[in-house]
Amino acid sequence: MARLDVAETFYNIKFPGHMHTQDSLNYAANFKFQDTDTVIVTYPKSGTTWMQEIITLVLNKGDPTLARSQPNWLRAPWLEQYYCRQILQASTGPRIITTHLPYHILAPALRDSKAKVIYVARNPKDVAVSYYHFHKMANFLPDPGTFSEFLSDFLEGTVHYGSWFDHVKGWTDHAQNFQKFLYITYEEMCQDLHGSLKKVCRFLQCSLTEEELKFSQKHCSFNSMEENIMVNYTLIPQEIMDHSKGKFMRKGKIGDWKNMFTEEQSDVFDAVYSAQMADSSQLFKWEY
Ligand code: A3P
Repeated sequence: MARLDVAETFYNIKFPGHMHTQDSLNYAANFKFQDTDTVIVTYPKSGTTWMQEIITLVLNKGDPTLARSQPNWLRAPWLEQYYCRQILQASTGPRIITTHLPYHILAPALRDSKAKVIYVARNPKDVAVSYYHFHKMANFLPDPGTFSEFLSDFLEGTVHYGSWFDHVKGWTDHAQNFQKFLYITYEEMCQDLHGSLKKVCRFLQCSLTEEELKFSQKHCSFNSMEENIMVNYTLIPQEIMDHSKGKFMRKGKIGDWKNMFTEEQSDVFDAVYSAQMADSSQLFKWEY
């Protein structure tokens, strides 16, 4: 049955981000997930592209042919992007689907499905820094102003995709609602990519030989992905992402926030973090 013939529930959803429309949010909220889908869920700048690459390699037993011939947005399309709808519909599966949407929007569609959900989280101070730099090169996002101004917006949750705190709490507090849910952090992937690959393999029930794992590890390293035009977003026209203003694959490091935050900004952040995360079991380390 064609997608438009399916009766949709109309939700009146309000959500920060100038690119979200009622139509795009309702499309996502009514999406028919398949049991064979793997859904990558992240707050922006938390390692989304990295996980897209890891899953592509794992599902292909370390064979990089697909990863080297198709841009990541074709092999792991975005649920909330109009340009991905046809790709999503045409794909017979197993599909890799990517989204930054919060739990409360996707819950009705995902709750009863057997789709596998992989949630990647990253230390929010590094997320804020990475997101700030991304705003400067991504022309579809508003001018972030100074870092101090951007940080205030980030802490208030008024940036595109809303509050980091609500995103992490929303998804992790409801992990038990999913039949298959994997929580992994960007920091864990940085510190032990080999172990993280094995974790994803176990979760997706794909067994890779040691040789395939080692190859995948090399392929998914920052140095390799930085040069790979299928994931470094240099194929995107300059009007959309201007690589002369900064690279998408920027630094790929833990703790870059220390180069950007003043002591006062860090204290304010810590206070907001403590208040917002008081009821959460997910706590991030600031030192590694
Ligand atoms: P930085 O801006 O801190 O360098 P997303 O894909 O969710 O938008 O996240 C982008 C961030 O992930 C960027 O962070 C990018 O450099 C980092 N990243 C992407 N691939 C990576 C890899 N293989 N290793 C480490 N970091 C990676």
